[in-house]
Amino acid sequence: MKKLFIIANWKSNETTPESNSWIQEFSNVKLPISHEAEKEVIICPPFTLLAGLKNLIVDKDLGLKLGAQDISPFAQGAHTGEINAQEVKEFADYVIIGHSERRLELGEDDSVISEKVKRALEAELTPIFCVQGIDTPVPDGVSVVAYEPVSAIGTGKADTPEDAERVAKTIKEKYSYVQHVLYGGSVRGGNVAGFTQGQFIDGVLVGGASLDADKFIQIVKNS
Ligand code: PGA
Repeated sequence: MKKLFIIANWKSNETTPESNSWIQEFSNVKLPISHEAEKEVIICPPFTLLAGLKNLIVDKDLGLKLGAQDISPFAQGAHTGEINAQEVKEFADYVIIGHSERRLELGEDDSVISEKVKRALEAELTPIFCVQGIDTPVPDGVSVVAYEPVSAIGTGKADTPEDAERVAKTIKEKYSYVQHVLYGGSVRGGNVAGFTQGQFIDGVLVGGASLDADKFIQIVKNS
């Protein structure tokens, strides 16, 4: 059975009390996730919640992994406001890089994004590299790619599993170093299986539906 990555991207949402309630709800349901399980469940909260969530996950032995939503393209040093890969590595194993919201709202281009990938790999963080289609270049060394068509993000209009499978297959054929391709964009409990049951898709990146612990649990269960 293939390993599945089920990733929650909380984006710019959730305060400490809200994330505590989310974890409480999540931990009330005994999901069969552990370090050996075939499902890797990763929460990507805002930076401000990483330390607190790490403690809760360890204390409650939840088997969840953590990821950041971004990192600095710079190494440690005089870069006011930046959070670098080494700092993220203290709390997380993964980092989302190249999300289309950052490309569109903050003007991130392929060159800054590839710097971020380099910094992540140096710090032994696994990039979850977002592409909008087969034309987005995937930098060397990236093993996890998330295919997220812009038209599907936050719109309730998910891509079809057939199209997502075709893109996942093409990406794997094009880049020998890519081992896992995920789908993201309006994933819900009701449509997740269509994506995860395919031959080439290895999981999902979930935005809106991941903010509600119940909805996210349904996605984990149905994947
Ligand atoms: P969505 O977002 O699930 O709200 O469509 C997905 C994403 O942007 O990662």
